[in-house]
Amino acid sequence: MSRQSQLTENESCIVIAIAGASASGKSLIASTIYKELKEELGQDDIGIISEDAYYRDQTHLAMEERIKTNYDHPSSMDHALLVSQLKALKQGQSVNIPEYDYTEHNRKPTVTHFSPKRIIILEGILLLTDEEIRNEINVSIFVDAPLDICFIRRLKRDMQERGRSLESVVSQYRKTVRPMFLQFVEPSKQYADIIVPKGGKNRIAINILKAQIKQLLKQK
Ligand code: C5P
Ligand code: MG
Repeated sequence: MSRQSQLTENESCIVIAIAGASASGKSLIASTIYKELKEELGQDDIGIISEDAYYRDQTHLAMEERIKTNYDHPSSMDHALLVSQLKALKQGQSVNIPEYDYTEHNRKPTVTHFSPKRIIILEGILLLTDEEIRNEINVSIFVDAPLDICFIRRLKRDMQERGRSLESVVSQYRKTVRPMFLQFVEPSKQYADIIVPKGGKNRIAINILKAQIKQLLKQK
């Protein structure tokens, strides 16, 4: 097995990955664990990294072209940059994480300065599809919410927060979001340590994850 559910000798950073369909509740689980662990452990040494930050820069493309990009295919992400930044963080170096603008379908000109952390929570749809990312993860979960529920959430969110029309959300869902989920995201479930039903409000799953993270922290 290439992934490490145990920390190795000189490893001080625990990486948790939360994968699953778009709008399945990944961000909610990530932020709940983040807030509660911060409070319970009384430490600031914890951070969240979103895979969406690693969508490729598209400044060279006109808006009409950017709209056509398949944002649910692994090639739309710069996973190599994510892996190299995780490795740097594990070696105690700070990194500049790109920032993403869903309205512009492009990276923002600004970056987030991110210092090394004891616990890093990664969240994103395609995280478990990439072997190199999997090699950097200690605990992985797949949020398994019904696709119709995910679609309803996505529709609301994309219209309210990501500047989309009803027609564009429906058309993108048919053309790329659903087919890519079936081709890439769902098969990556096989790599998860825990499959979490009921999305982001699954209290028992959150408690189990927190307990596992605390257990790993004790190893150091
Ligand atoms: O937050 P969530 O996991 O839903 O974010 C991933 C989704 O963002 C993908 O399913 C992708 O279709 C969508 N996306 C988009 N437009 C972009 C970049 C990503 O609709 N420019
Ligand atoms: Mg999200």
